[in-house]
Amino acid sequence: MSVDLKGRSFLTLMDYTPEEIRYLLELAAALKAEKKAGIRKKRLEGKNIVLLFEKTSTRTRCAFEVAAMDEGAGVTYLDSKSSQMGKKESLPDTARVLGRFFDGIEYRGYSQSVVEQLAKYSGVPVFNGLTDTDHPTQALADVLTMTENIKKPLDRCRLVFCGDTRNNIAYCLMYICAKLGIHFVGCGPEELAPAEEAVRRCAGAAKESGAVIEHISDPYKAVEGADVLYTDIWASMGEEELIPQRVKLLTPYRVTERLFEATGNPECIFLHCLPSFHDFETVMAAEQMKLGYDIREVENEVFFSPRSKVFDEAENRLHTIKAVLVALLGDEK
Ligand code: CP
Ligand code: NVA
Repeated sequence: MSVDLKGRSFLTLMDYTPEEIRYLLELAAALKAEKKAGIRKKRLEGKNIVLLFEKTSTRTRCAFEVAAMDEGAGVTYLDSKSSQMGKKESLPDTARVLGRFFDGIEYRGYSQSVVEQLAKYSGVPVFNGLTDTDHPTQALADVLTMTENIKKPLDRCRLVFCGDTRNNIAYCLMYICAKLGIHFVGCGPEELAPAEEAVRRCAGAAKESGAVIEHISDPYKAVEGADVLYTDIWASMGEEELIPQRVKLLTPYRVTERLFEATGNPECIFLHCLPSFHDFETVMAAEQMKLGYDIREVENEVFFSPRSKVFDEAENRLHTIKAVLVALLGDEK
């Protein structure tokens, strides 16, 4: 049976079958090879998309813009300061209007219910560019990076996410692992264990794919045998006031060289969605350090090691987001 995703929204990977996810990954790999070979096909010619950002972004915004432009689509960017959304116009009205102008809508912001409402009222495909509880285009890029760097089949891989195991990145990784049969280990303190509801959502998919989804609080036990060691910042966008509390809770989960070596797997790769605090060269890391808080979730020795694939992973945001746009909006060429 061939996969047809035309006209669908991309709100969470939990809405997609394993076959559909594998199709998007294969399409991303093909589009990446095509771009490297200098081939341009303009499968989105005549289409226009709008990017709504209520939180800041480097990778996701640039990936949507470059992917759309590579394929011939027009792009409009709106942030909360420069649009009426949520202030002078309700979300359903904004969605209804944008649906009259655009062929697709990307949204980054807070509640997952916003992407759901945009999809409900706009009548056009909506793409989730990160909410408080999901980041599905990130998970696609992460798994594409795994397939490029790990020789074993995905359903024999163990991915360990160290840190805030109830943030958007931990959740989207848990979802894609459940769908594709990857062993997912959430490694963090019990206080930040994933919500029961999120774990319950994965149970059916994990049963079907054979994935193991587990939470282990002891970092040295959790990382044993990992094929991927993954981490993310300790306080997500909008949670900055929690930094003191998070530093206290998460310092034992910092990805140090010693922890990385404890995987016992010389082939283990390091992944991170980025942006990352791995030194004190950013304004925020330096300011927090002055206040006595070391917010580094990973050390430079791991971040810049040959086993770190974080910049390949960042590049793969472009190819995977392009696959989503082409599959959901594009014309065959
Ligand atoms: N990984 C990621 O989503 O990066 P940005 O916040 O820069 O988009
Ligand atoms: N958890 C991070 C991910 C950034 C891509 C945040 O939400 O800020």
